[in-house]
Amino acid sequence: MYKCGLVLPLLAFGFCSVLQAYKWTSTLEENMHVSACVDGNVSFPWSMVTEGKEEKILDIDWLFQAPGKENVSFATYVDDNFVTNKDRFTFIPNAGLFLQGAQSRDAGRYYVIVSLHDPKCRLTSAQRMVTLTVADRPPATRDDALHVTLRDAVRDDVTEDWTLQLHCGLFVDFGHPPADVVWTTPSGEVRNSSYQDNGTFVLSVSSPVQGGNYSCQLHPSAPAARCLTATSPLNAAAQLYVDDKDVRLSFLEARQKEIVIQLSNLSTQFSQLNEKMDHFFNNPKELIKHRNSSSCVDWLEFDQRSGVQTVYVSGEPVTVYCDQTTDNGGWIVFQRRNDASVDFYRGWAEYRIGFGDPMGNFWLGLDTLHSLTTSRSYELRVDLQKYDLTKGHATYSGFYVEGAPHNFALHFDKFVGGNAGDSLSFHRGQQFSTKDRDHDNSGGCAQKFHGAWWFHACLHSNLNGDYGRFASSQGLNWLTFGSSYSMKFTEMKIRPM
Ligand SMILES: *[C@@H]1O[C@H](CO)[C@@H](O)[C@H](O)[C@H]1NC(C)=O
Ligand SMILES: *[C@@H]1O[C@H](CO)[C@@H](O)[C@H](O)[C@H]1NC(C)=O
Ligand SMILES: *[C@@H]1O[C@H](CO)[C@@H](O)[C@H](O)[C@H]1NC(C)=O
Ligand SMILES: *[C@@H]1O[C@H](CO)[C@@H](O)[C@H](O)[C@H]1NC(C)=O
Ligand SMILES: *[C@@H]1O[C@H](CO)[C@@H](O)[C@H](O)[C@H]1NC(C)=O
Ligand SMILES: *[C@@H]1O[C@H](CO)[C@@H](O)[C@H](O)[C@H]1NC(C)=O
Ligand SMILES: *[C@@H]1O[C@H](CO)[C@@H](O)[C@H](O)[C@H]1NC(C)=O
Repeated sequence: MYKCGLVLPLLAFGFCSVLQAYKWTSTLEENMHVSACVDGNVSFPWSMVTEGKEEKILDIDWLFQAPGKENVSFATYVDDNFVTNKDRFTFIPNAGLFLQGAQSRDAGRYYVIVSLHDPKCRLTSAQRMVTLTVADRPPATRDDALHVTLRDAVRDDVTEDWTLQLHCGLFVDFGHPPADVVWTTPSGEVRNSSYQDNGTFVLSVSSPVQGGNYSCQLHPSAPAARCLTATSPLNAAAQLYVDDKDVRLSFLEARQKEIVIQLSNLSTQFSQLNEKMDHFFNNPKELIKHRNSSSCVDWLEFDQRSGVQTVYVSGEPVTVYCDQTTDNGGWIVFQRRNDASVDFYRGWAEYRIGFGDPMGNFWLGLDTLHSLTTSRSYELRVDLQKYDLTKGHATYSGFYVEGAPHNFALHFDKFVGGNAGDSLSFHRGQQFSTKDRDHDNSGGCAQKFHGAWWFHACLHSNLNGDYGRFASSQGLNWLTFGSSYSMKFTEMKIRPM
């Protein structure tokens, strides 16, 4: 009986008694990266330690895989002989392969597979992979040197924080593989570059900005930097001294620019307003009519674009979104869903007064919907869109909702038509329910289906459900337009009949 040993001794049980004789040494990690400069030398470290006497029968195979290609076997070590069809490779026992004069075509993955081979018990093999990168194009800047420049301060629109931007460049070629830089701040902190812009690496420094020297240099361990000639000026770090005055000036300048832009915007808006005023002063009747506008249909005469407008309901101004394109326009939109940014799983109070952004996802509010729909006779239109972008709609005549004392009960004369079918008649006459006000025929429909609707027991439609949720009836459902499918887009709108 032979005694065998290898890294994976498990498979050896039953055949051989195991000696923990062969082990990968720590020099080779599981997946290793090595890099070389073109025409340079590179070694593929590989090493195992042996402990016994009988472990000489090693069989080693090397495979090469060029990017996007198949594995190719290119070298073997068997019976103390190293055989390869790539003449620039040599084998150094217990140290690995040595490649002399690396070329771009040598870049790829190298596998080394070691197996203990003997006539009586063939044990399983163990393998390692090394990825070789060959830097074949050094980075280049416009004047062969790095420079750090201070650019405008910029404001983050979301956080409203100011940051100062330092740019390192100017690169005309980032090289292959692409160069990277590291920054050192006045306090000695080393930072990676946040992003690249127009041939420069950018360091964003948040306010308050530390004064002092900021320097940037090519990432020292990156192949791109290592392959530069020793005398290349690109090896030198670039530096910029930033003092408090520079920072203040940069911020001031940026703010000034912003103010100038805002001023010009304001003057544009002012002249537009002026035009409108002129229009009204020259046509006093229109002014009165404008004041009398009680729907988006009245607005069509002055402004054919869809957008936010003011309409008067019993003399009170109400801000609404007018859809002036669908079916000749004139629609007051009172519900819209087009992404998950606004939470619609809300309570009674919020459904009464409304929420969201009229330009995006919103619910106009039940109180307003009641005043509007009881001031004159309205038709209702529901527009829907699926994720495959097919569109559907449904229209109803004589739509109105009752007031708060009757919990905004839903009324209409009849379903008029539309390819989305009728999924609302089931709800006709029902009062509105939210998660905290239950007026349905089943008990807790709003909670069960994460919505707010004129629930019955419980639903054929649920357009205030969870956006993007496809669980049964939990999404934006319209039974006759895709069963329990959840819509990508919904809009509910009204127009005087
Ligand atoms: C590559 O290795 C060969 C042989 O060891 C040596 O003569 C040559 O100088 C090396 N070249 C580089 C760039 O190190
Ligand atoms: C190439 O060979 C290695 C070692 O056997 C294997 O792990 C790898 O999956 C192979 N790759 C392809 C693409 O066949
Ligand atoms: C900087 O980038 C290098 C690789 O380019 C990465 O190894 C290192 O973790 C990064 N450091 C930080 C602080 O992000
Ligand atoms: C890119 O940099 C060049 C040279 O500094 C400059 O002329 C150009 O305006 C910059 N382009 C952008 C988009 O910033
Ligand atoms: C910044 O760098 C310059 C030039 O290397 C040096 O003279 C100056 O003392 C440095 N300033 C600080 C605050 O480190
Ligand atoms: C001008 O003002 C409008 C309305 O406030 C705003 O939407 C737009 O982004 C502004 N434009 C600029 C360039 O600030
Ligand atoms: C404005 O409305 C009032 C009452 O609703 C009406 O009497 C008047 O004729 C309207 N004016 C115009 C110009 O439409």
